[in-house]
Amino acid sequence: MLFFDRKKIKGKEAERERKLPQHIGIIMDGNGRWAKKRGLPRTAGHSVGASTFKNIAKYCNKIGLKYLTVYAFSTENWKRPQEEVDAIMDLFRQYLKDSISSLDNDNIKIRFIGDISALADDLQKLIKEAEEDTADATGLTLNIAINYGGRQEIVAAAKKLCEDISKGILDPSDISEEEISKRIYTAGQPDPDLIIRPSGEKRISNFMLWQSAYTEFWYSDVLWPDFSPRHLEMAIDDYNKRIRRFGGI
Ligand code: IPE
Ligand code: IPE
Ligand code: MG
Repeated sequence: MLFFDRKKIKGKEAERERKLPQHIGIIMDGNGRWAKKRGLPRTAGHSVGASTFKNIAKYCNKIGLKYLTVYAFSTENWKRPQEEVDAIMDLFRQYLKDSISSLDNDNIKIRFIGDISALADDLQKLIKEAEEDTADATGLTLNIAINYGGRQEIVAAAKKLCEDISKGILDPSDISEEEISKRIYTAGQPDPDLIIRPSGEKRISNFMLWQSAYTEFWYSDVLWPDFSPRHLEMAIDDYNKRIRRFGGI
């Protein structure tokens, strides 16, 4: 019994030593290649990818992560065949309907980032409903990036700055990093500490450009539908070995 207790304490100490990032970003990539490898249509990859997303969000909430931002659809993804875009939009629709109808949302606060106004009206309504339903949740804040582009986000922030200047709320001489940060989608949230990109690609693809100035990156060849909590744990363990200097020494 004593031995068992000691082991338990040891486990807890190890957990205490390991630093959980405050904010993780994930570029959920590789759905198409996952499907192709199996001789399936790309849309099958998106379906399985959607299940992976739900699992990983739940897991992040369970381990006590505060913020998770997932890249689900970029401002450039509209270039894809209409059929594929429609299938992805249907998966969002289904996810939103499920989250709204389920009474137990695991205390996850759902937020959407990106230009939501370009989405179908019914999707916009569902998004509003899901955000309102979970507004008081105190667990994980889950930012879902749809029709999101880091450049588009900065452009939107620049427009807001101009509007505030023309209203007399702000003077041009007051424009600062803080004033821009207040006008981006993740205003009030810490910048991501860690961005994870599966699928073997080593690029940012227009994700969180403003916020990722000092973010640590973790890449893996695993395709998103195969991504599991084990991969997330590997990324967090690796993050714990990084020395972050933020320009200092
Ligand atoms: C990510 O998987 C999902 C979206 C971009 C919507 P992809 O569809 O990009 O999958 P690959 O990169 O073609 O394998
Ligand atoms: C980035 O993946 C966007 C999302 C995962 C939503 P892409 O598959 O669109 O990126 P590229 O084209 O390989 O850079
Ligand atoms: Mg891709």
